[in-house]
Amino acid sequence: MTTPLRIAIAGLGTVGTGVVRLLAENKELIRTRAGRDIEITAICARDKNRDRGLDLGAYDWVDNPQALATRDDIDVVVELIGGSDEPALALTKTAMQNGKSLVTANKAMLAHHGAALAMMADEHTVMLGFEASVAGGIPAIKAIKDGLSANTIRSVYGILNGTCNYILTEMRRTGHDFVGILKQAQEKGYAEADPTFDIGGIDTAHKICLLAALCFGTHPDFDAISITGIEKINAEDIEFAEDFGYRIKLLGIATKDDHGALSVRVEPCLIDQSRPIAAVDDVYNAVLIQSDFAGRTLLTGRGAGQAPTASAVVADIIDIAKGIKLPVFGVAAKHLNTARNAAPEDIYARYYLRFTVQDKPGTIADISAILRDHNVSIKGLIQRSRDEDGGLVPVVMTTHRSRYGDISACATAIAALPAVSDGDPCVLRITDEV
Ligand SMILES: NC(=O)c1ccc[n+]([C@@H]2O[C@H](COP(=O)([O-])OP(=O)(O)OC[C@H]3O[C@@H](n4cnc5c(N)ncnc54)[C@H](OP(=O)(O)O)[C@@H]3O)[C@@H](O)[C@H]2O)c1
Repeated sequence: MTTPLRIAIAGLGTVGTGVVRLLAENKELIRTRAGRDIEITAICARDKNRDRGLDLGAYDWVDNPQALATRDDIDVVVELIGGSDEPALALTKTAMQNGKSLVTANKAMLAHHGAALAMMADEHTVMLGFEASVAGGIPAIKAIKDGLSANTIRSVYGILNGTCNYILTEMRRTGHDFVGILKQAQEKGYAEADPTFDIGGIDTAHKICLLAALCFGTHPDFDAISITGIEKINAEDIEFAEDFGYRIKLLGIATKDDHGALSVRVEPCLIDQSRPIAAVDDVYNAVLIQSDFAGRTLLTGRGAGQAPTASAVVADIIDIAKGIKLPVFGVAAKHLNTARNAAPEDIYARYYLRFTVQDKPGTIADISAILRDHNVSIKGLIQRSRDEDGGLVPVVMTTHRSRYGDISACATAIAALPAVSDGDPCVLRITDEV
């Protein structure tokens, strides 16, 4: 009879209780697939008396998560506390130093400390599984590490934050502005009370940071990521984008150019409405990988929530039960490279620009002159007039392929024109590659 795999769960919130529930509900099926029982030995959270809607009486409760890392009766520690640093980081390190594999959903910790943790996992020949940390129930990490392992990956694009995707989708459906839809998302439980990490693009950046490391064999480098959130997208941008034939999505993007320079960024982008990824709406996530032999691989599904995230956590536990031990980022940690980053100003793309201007003669001519002087040519232009002269109106244009450095210089020069109202112009990339 094979010995059971003994696990400890640190963190019994949304994901942790989901893992307990899934291991119980699918116990037989999991035993058959894993080839052995998976038993919960010990559990830990802050408040022992909190009602979690589950009978946890059969498991040994510990108050300090660190105690799980050194116990002889535990093979695997499942870290579901969250946060980039303590106590999750110390628990992870100590567990691995004590020869235990570790499973986590913690993208923040891996984005900031992934290189050191991968080194530690190799050194102690343990598995560090983090399938649940990117795109919840979508097996994106397995697809890249395993299914696509023979390919040179050229790029990865992801809709990686359900909150942002829900907000942008609802803004399009209802025509309402960002603030109102955010409030509604909070009421429905799709957005946190403090939504900064989601709408500011930080959560997406944590995830694309890990996907970039996996796809390109580089150290995760969170500080090198350029991050723009969705706070400045207004209902008019969504409507104008539709008029031009596009959808606005917050994308995590990692690409390698022909000279080997890496560009990792998070930004709201315009995507042609006919592309499959443009149809990924609501809280759904998508990961699009472009590789040399497999071509375009698009994975979609539920990116967060209790059940999908628990599904990914338990998939990693089953791998460990089966003895599968793939390197953390697909190659041995000592072979991970430090990426050479592409200069942001040298990114070539088409762009969408929106300014608010006084509705008076000559303004468009002044804007056109600035664009011409910076080698930027206009592809499409929409100007809406108000009834009365001199009112404020939006001017929106799309450009032909241009260098970002030139676009940025234009935006600054146009914003300084007397007829252009205060406030940042909206500059969005049009992503033709997805
Ligand atoms: N929620 C999702 O849909 C989702 C999706 C993908 C990834 N993740 C990731 O999964 C992880 C967990 O997220 P979650 O949503 O489940 O969080 P959560 O609901 O806030 O749960 C966190 C748990 O950690 C416990 N905890 C906090 N500080 C602790 C400490 N010092 N010692 C012991 N226990 C402590 C809390 O205890 P108490 O319950 O006693 O307060 C709680 O049970 C995070 O890394 C998150 O980014 C979440």
